Amino acid sequence: MECQLKITLTEQRKEKPASDKLGFGVHFTDHMFTMDYTEGKGWHDPQIVPYSPVTLDPAAMVFHYGQTVFEGLKAYRNKDDRAWLFRPDQNFKRLNRSLSRLSMPLIDEDFMLEALKQLVATEKEWIPTESGTSLYIRPFVIATEACFGVRASHTYKLIILLSPVGAYYAGGMKPVKIYVENHYVRAVRGGTGNAKTAGNYAGSLKAQEEAKEKGYEQVLWLDGIENKYVEEVGSMNVFFKVNGEVWVPELNGSILEGITRDSTIHMLKDWGVPVVEKRISMEDLYEAYTKGELEEAFGTGTAAVISPIGEMSWNEHKMVINNAQIGELTSKLYDQMTGIQYGLVEDKFGWSV
Ligand code: COI
Repeated sequence: MECQLKITLTEQRKEKPASDKLGFGVHFTDHMFTMDYTEGKGWHDPQIVPYSPVTLDPAAMVFHYGQTVFEGLKAYRNKDDRAWLFRPDQNFKRLNRSLSRLSMPLIDEDFMLEALKQLVATEKEWIPTESGTSLYIRPFVIATEACFGVRASHTYKLIILLSPVGAYYAGGMKPVKIYVENHYVRAVRGGTGNAKTAGNYAGSLKAQEEAKEKGYEQVLWLDGIENKYVEEVGSMNVFFKVNGEVWVPELNGSILEGITRDSTIHMLKDWGVPVVEKRISMEDLYEAYTKGELEEAFGTGTAAVISPIGEMSWNEHKMVINNAQIGELTSKLYDQMTGIQYGLVEDKFGWSV
């Protein structure tokens, strides 16, 4: 598809950070993509411009009622020196689902993919090449109309920022300690849990902070109705290996439809590992644990890809999983998933673009 963009290149290139000083989402490239929406006119003025602050009216609706959605994906520069995106079509599909849930105007997914390719091509030199590094891509949309009325905005801005990021685990992949959250909830059925919208993340911070104070790295979120069924871990989807079978919470409207979650399910099924998407109660997990059947647990997400869980604390119960070591399946999934992303193993699923 043809994608006509206005491109204005910067005259002041920034210095690129050293690969061991990248961190996550703290450095930004020289350019960004922007596009505006006006009711009656649709999306207009797509352009690549020098990275710069955005001027908004302080009454812009995004500041008051949180009408905003975002996405996260990565670009890799592999040994062929070409830039590769991992399943970007899925991100634009999900962006549209999030936009729809927040009463925001939909985007043309094919156009956005072409625009992203042009942006990434413009910034190709910013894609770090060291093992574990990548270019994190953050598309987002904000409501820009100045109005205190509680209704959908009539104007919006879509921006794509690019950020070179380091290996998520600076000292190698490490199993995390999880607090099973029994007070706060992340989302409820019928709410916005399956939309990638700011409020879900803002509302999760308190629980995260309190868990940290108790000595845990992340929380395991339970459902908002009965406080019984597992939903997500931190800002990731969650998987459990129980007696040779892999259990994953079924999508119920309050769980984010993770692209790494979907890729993991495809990969496991391809390997012949039985995967069951179902409601998983903490009671079921604890029973499996007491029988010695809870073999591995891990989170999946774009940022960390696969994150092993070494311990879970649920009420008075402490569950140490696989002696707090990285499980065999967890490790294999990480190697194969990142292997496809870095072009080191055959992409039999056709995920790299
Ligand atoms: C991810 O795992 O990629 C996330 O969703 C976290 C992100 C918001 C930084």
